[in-house]
Amino acid sequence: MKSKKKIPSKGSPNPIASSEGHAAEARRVTTRTIREMKLRGEKVTMITAYDYTFARLFDQAGADILLVGDSLSNVIQGNETTIPVTLDEMIYHARLVVRGVHEHAMVICDMPFMSFQVTVEEGFRNAGRIMKETGAGGVKLEGGQRVADHVRRMSEAGIPVMGHLGLTPQSIHQFGSYRTRGITKDESDRMKKDAKALEDAGCFALVLEKIPSGLAKEITDSLKVSTIGIGAGPHCDGQVLVMHDMLGLTEEFHPRFVRRYASLAETVREAVRSYDSDIKNGKFPSKAESY
Ligand code: KIV
Repeated sequence: MKSKKKIPSKGSPNPIASSEGHAAEARRVTTRTIREMKLRGEKVTMITAYDYTFARLFDQAGADILLVGDSLSNVIQGNETTIPVTLDEMIYHARLVVRGVHEHAMVICDMPFMSFQVTVEEGFRNAGRIMKETGAGGVKLEGGQRVADHVRRMSEAGIPVMGHLGLTPQSIHQFGSYRTRGITKDESDRMKKDAKALEDAGCFALVLEKIPSGLAKEITDSLKVSTIGIGAGPHCDGQVLVMHDMLGLTEEFHPRFVRRYASLAETVREAVRSYDSDIKNGKFPSKAESY
């Protein structure tokens, strides 16, 4: 059901949009907003979303970026890894999320495994499909220097790109575990070079996943573009969590970086238990709920 209540949105007006009279666009987050937030020292709030209803709620609550993460392979499709989700499936979900954003948030769509790895041109074409078919404000892809040419090609064509370093789940079969990255000197030196390469190639922001907080601070301080951390400590320019984890829908997953802001799994079970009991006991529907 659609809410008719007007929810005040946060965020500063975008002067370019305002001066051109596009009132509805005035408070929408853009890459420019993200850049200005870093300059002001204002943190970016990013959360994953995969459908219209939750996107609507997260936008009303003031989240700055909704990420249609390829984690949808895990939390929506029930796969063990992010490898199986397809580009068409990502596009379908990104379209639903974009439809739920009326106020403020920018929507970024992950490029799934094998949608960009083969060649720069194929990655570029697929990023273009995401932009044309979903209405998202940009794409995200995993990798460092090896994807710099991909990022450059997309950025030069006007596609905002978010990078992703540290723990990169699409490479799980190469690494063999979800352990913290950037612990050794070799790994942390490489990550710093990767971060710089992605910035130089045109990324407007980088996700830093599961790396030591000190390394995340060094990278954040060395870049003009924003870092968005997940398990990367408090010094990043913003934070991201998977919605199912922060809302307490995934109960088996307990990494230390997840803070649960609700316990929806138990709330949902309890609601369905009551519904079941009311039906079985003839208490639902009542006279007032009937025609
Ligand atoms: O797919 C995803 O949800 C992500 C976030 C964890 C950053 O990439």
